[in-house]
Amino acid sequence: MIAATLLLSLLSVAAAQNATTRLALNEPPDGQLYLGAWIDTGVSSGDSPTAFNTRLGRNASWFQASQNIPADPYDDVTGTGGIINATMVFETNTDAGVYVTVYPEDGLDAISAQDYASLGVQLQAYITAGHAVFMRFAPEMNGNWDVWGTQPTLFKATWKVMYTSIKSSCPNCAIVWSPNAASGYPYGITPDQIANATDRAALDTNGDGIYDNNDDAYSPYYPGDEYVDWTGVSYYYKGVYPNSYNIIEQPGYMATAMTGWLQDTGDAGGVQYTPFYNTYCSSMPCMISEGGAAWHVNQTQIPTYQGFVSPSQEQLEQGWWQDGITNLTFLEMFPRLKMIMLFEWEKVETDNDIPTLRDFRLTNDSSVLGGFSQDLENVAQRYIWANYLPMPTSGSGSPDQVPMPQETVHRATPYRASTPTSISLFSSAALPSILLGWATGIAVIVSGIALGASLIL
Ligand SMILES: *[C@@H]1O[C@H](CO)[C@@H](O)[C@H](O)[C@H]1NC(C)=O
Ligand SMILES: *[C@@H]1O[C@H](CO)[C@@H](O)[C@H](O)[C@H]1NC(C)=O
Ligand SMILES: *[C@@H]1O[C@H](CO)[C@@H](O)[C@H](O)[C@H]1NC(C)=O
Ligand SMILES: *[C@@H]1O[C@H](CO)[C@@H](O)[C@H](O)[C@H]1NC(C)=O
Ligand SMILES: *[C@@H]1O[C@H](CO)[C@@H](O)[C@H](O)[C@H]1NC(C)=O
Ligand SMILES: *[C@@H]1O[C@H](CO)[C@@H](O)[C@H](O)[C@H]1NC(C)=O
Ligand SMILES: *[C@@H]1O[C@H](CO)[C@@H](O)[C@H](O)[C@H]1NC(C)=O
Repeated sequence: MIAATLLLSLLSVAAAQNATTRLALNEPPDGQLYLGAWIDTGVSSGDSPTAFNTRLGRNASWFQASQNIPADPYDDVTGTGGIINATMVFETNTDAGVYVTVYPEDGLDAISAQDYASLGVQLQAYITAGHAVFMRFAPEMNGNWDVWGTQPTLFKATWKVMYTSIKSSCPNCAIVWSPNAASGYPYGITPDQIANATDRAALDTNGDGIYDNNDDAYSPYYPGDEYVDWTGVSYYYKGVYPNSYNIIEQPGYMATAMTGWLQDTGDAGGVQYTPFYNTYCSSMPCMISEGGAAWHVNQTQIPTYQGFVSPSQEQLEQGWWQDGITNLTFLEMFPRLKMIMLFEWEKVETDNDIPTLRDFRLTNDSSVLGGFSQDLENVAQRYIWANYLPMPTSGSGSPDQVPMPQETVHRATPYRASTPTSISLFSSAALPSILLGWATGIAVIVSGIALGASLIL
């Protein structure tokens, strides 16, 4: 009896010591991760989760969509606004999770208790219908391209209210804290642009009076482990400045999202930005919340760039997926990275003032899809795929039981597209050194990676 009690208490001590290694909400077992997709379901694209699964020949475990808080009226001309259309996920006849990205588009101080309550009820309905939920609130808060950016004090205070409110009505919603990856930080942001003195000081984390890569890109915005279920980063590859050339990424670029170490010219070695993985993927799992490599659709007539031969779309995208998604070395280096979310969009982006039409999709072009599917086959066991779950036609889980886009309005002109602003590594502040590099012919910057001279020649 004594022995049994002792054994039990030893076990509970051991279990308690293992508390941080227990699986978090929605966390896949060790050695596995999710592959999700953010599909452009807008009217003009007409894509859907079911169509995505059909193209890939596999059933993705998560589908992402975005909405604003407070929710906008739904616009049935552009298919934007309102709340997300989860029926599209249910229609896959799988148990795929519903990943809702929520933008406080009217500002961090414009969200009422009722707004949180509505969101919590909406999300809980998906769980009740058999679909797990991620909710990513106010992403890329460390950039200045969204209204909720660069306000660490208000951000953290708002986050705590948000987290407590959503958890009270949706306890099993996994809430994701997701800044932009640090590479390129501070993205051109300077102290004089930050009006609030508390915030201005908070962002200068090493107190040297300037913002640069030596300032912590993440910690000013982190509300604390007790208010976060998963962490994540946005991470993209867009090619060579001014982000309008098609050049294959340098292997190891994906790892930069986790380590903050950005390979640079032979001489300089590289630039150390804030590491993500060791700090933010230890006490909880983390994800690439959105990511992809930009194929500059209209730039294929530029045959060479500084000696590089333009790759095909498949070669360029292959550089992306083989460096991360299907790269076992990468996946084993970062076992706490438990989800990768594909950004399956084609859109015009204006980063660095050079607008190009960018195709990030891995499942649209048939060569890209063919190559990706083949490589995915080799690591398919590593990923978790969705299970069969028929969409009920009535009762819990049927479309009339879950919140749907409401308040339909017609608009003469489309307003803000509900797509994320993803920024490149370069801001105007980074230009002089880049241009200097060009002028001297020393370096070619590939989204922050300068390839060695041997590659250029
Ligand atoms: C604690 O975690 C380790 C490593 O994952 C595992 O081998 C061990 O069985 C766990 N112990 C308990 C009591 O859960
Ligand atoms: C994907 O899900 C559909 C609907 O449940 C099912 O018919 C199909 O067999 C699944 N595909 C795979 C590859 O599991
Ligand atoms: C939501 O998606 C379903 C399934 O694709 C579609 O039938 C319905 O019209 C959509 N609802 C809205 C409001 O767009
Ligand atoms: C800075 O912002 C915080 C949070 O909104 C606010 O409490 C504080 O009063 C502001 N400080 C200044 C100097 O404006
Ligand atoms: C796979 O990832 C590792 C670690 O980042 C990297 O060294 C390697 O070059 C990558 N392989 C490919 C084919 O990109
Ligand atoms: C890109 O080319 C397509 C035709 O292939 C054209 O419709 C579109 O306007 C172009 N977009 C930009 C941003 O140049
Ligand atoms: C590829 O995308 C275009 C729109 O950019 C769309 O018209 C076409 O149907 C898509 N093809 C596939 C196979 O998804």
